Amino acid sequence: MKPTTVTHLRQWKQEQRKFASLTAYDASFAKLFEEQGVKVLLVGDSLGMTLQGHDSTLPVTVADVAYHTRAVRRGAPACLLLADLPFMSYATPQLACTNAAELMQAGANMVKLEGGSWLCETVKMLTERAVPVCGHLGLTPQSVNVFGGYKVQGRDELAAKQLLEDAQNLELAGIQLLVLECVPTELARKVTEALTIPVIGIGAGNVTDGQILVMHDAFGITGGHTPKFAKNFLAQSGDIRLAVQQYIQDVEQGIYPAEEHSFN
Ligand code: KIV
Repeated sequence: MKPTTVTHLRQWKQEQRKFASLTAYDASFAKLFEEQGVKVLLVGDSLGMTLQGHDSTLPVTVADVAYHTRAVRRGAPACLLLADLPFMSYATPQLACTNAAELMQAGANMVKLEGGSWLCETVKMLTERAVPVCGHLGLTPQSVNVFGGYKVQGRDELAAKQLLEDAQNLELAGIQLLVLECVPTELARKVTEALTIPVIGIGAGNVTDGQILVMHDAFGITGGHTPKFAKNFLAQSGDIRLAVQQYIQDVEQGIYPAEEHSFN
């Protein structure tokens, strides 16, 4: 299978061809996802919740993400593989370089970090040193204690303006992808149209170039609170392979996320 690169994603954006991506944390699921046609995988620090049972992503370490990245890479050699830089691992540009190196050497094609324009220097430093970067704006879970909970972001005019400005500054600094989490659909549309790089949404409506779901949310095995944007694709068939195919198809056709999974 030919490896997926960020060039493919840029091309799909130009062609207005939507793509589906998932988180993955181990070789078996990664292999299954790749075989069913998922082209982009993320070793998310959501593993703190989904695998480790914490109530936030804060306890996750670089070593944790590197361990799961190695496993996912073995299972899915052709996927474009993103790995999360966890909480505090990119507090300074130097720290970001050291930790990004560990994730790239574990098999990632790109690292993801959460935050706005304050990260521009870090993004520039990483990209100049051959580390592709994905930004993450909106509800950035590492900032849960600043937000006072997992809340929709960018609802008022000022916050929306700031988010759009952050997205544009990060693109100028060199990010090649952007994840937009839990923002109103109209704001997601503005950001997606304003950027030339692909935007991947989660809880951002069906207007972004791609979608991502935490795999546990896609299979209805989220412990505790199920987010509004989540959909259990396993419910209909009870077959994991069919569930992944359905997810891909629904994203490509703009059926998922529907109005009921979006914020207005
Ligand atoms: O950690 C994660 O799984 C993520 C997704 C929610 C995008 O960042």
